Amino acid sequence: MKYLTFALAKGRLAFKALELLEQTGITCEEMKDKDTRKLIFTNEELKLKFFLSKATDVPTYVELGAADIGVVGYDTILEEGRNIYEVLDLGFGKCRMCVCGPESARSILDSHEMIHVASKYPNIAKDYFHNVRQQTAEIIKLNGSVELAPIVGLSDVIVDIVETGTTLKENGLTVLEEICPLSARVVVNQVSMRLEQERIRDIITKVNNVINGGN
Ligand code: PRP
Repeated sequence: MKYLTFALAKGRLAFKALELLEQTGITCEEMKDKDTRKLIFTNEELKLKFFLSKATDVPTYVELGAADIGVVGYDTILEEGRNIYEVLDLGFGKCRMCVCGPESARSILDSHEMIHVASKYPNIAKDYFHNVRQQTAEIIKLNGSVELAPIVGLSDVIVDIVETGTTLKENGLTVLEEICPLSARVVVNQVSMRLEQERIRDIITKVNNVINGGN
């Protein structure tokens, strides 16, 4: 039997995904060691492999078939725009993609004049401003601490993830518009979905049952 390979976005999502998989009887003991520097883990009995990667790389591994199944946030799926199947909403890692900024930026949104937008998600920002709002926007790609941008005058607003809202609040910013809700999703390689349909469907069904409180 061929190995099925999982790519998990490292961090909190991977930890929760492993917890969920464990409840379906799919375990990977060696992966639970948080201090390990090992990158790939195997469950010989079930012929499964697991690896952790940077979230933004998960759709790449899955589209190109280096992983059959991936667990990653919907934000990354939207931003990367890869050809992969999105098969299940895991219901955790819930947050929102929003346009945020100081209250004073609301007038630029309302006026539909040219707006400067900073984001770790340039594709999502571009799509939202150009296609949904039909507002001319200059998108500035940043790699983190995006909330800084409107504070130091780099941009008018940001497009970013809001979970608890604490980061915004502590920096005098607010949600101006909601783009979409986000959560952790399971994605599958398009060829694997055909060739390993039975095994993959079985895993998805089991995970779905756990999420819905069954067995
Ligand atoms: C994310 C996001 C916000 C923050 C939102 O950043 O980009 O900054 O979390 O969470 P909150 O609403 O609960 O405050 P992350 O922690 O990933 O760090 P980064 O900005 O450096 O990428």
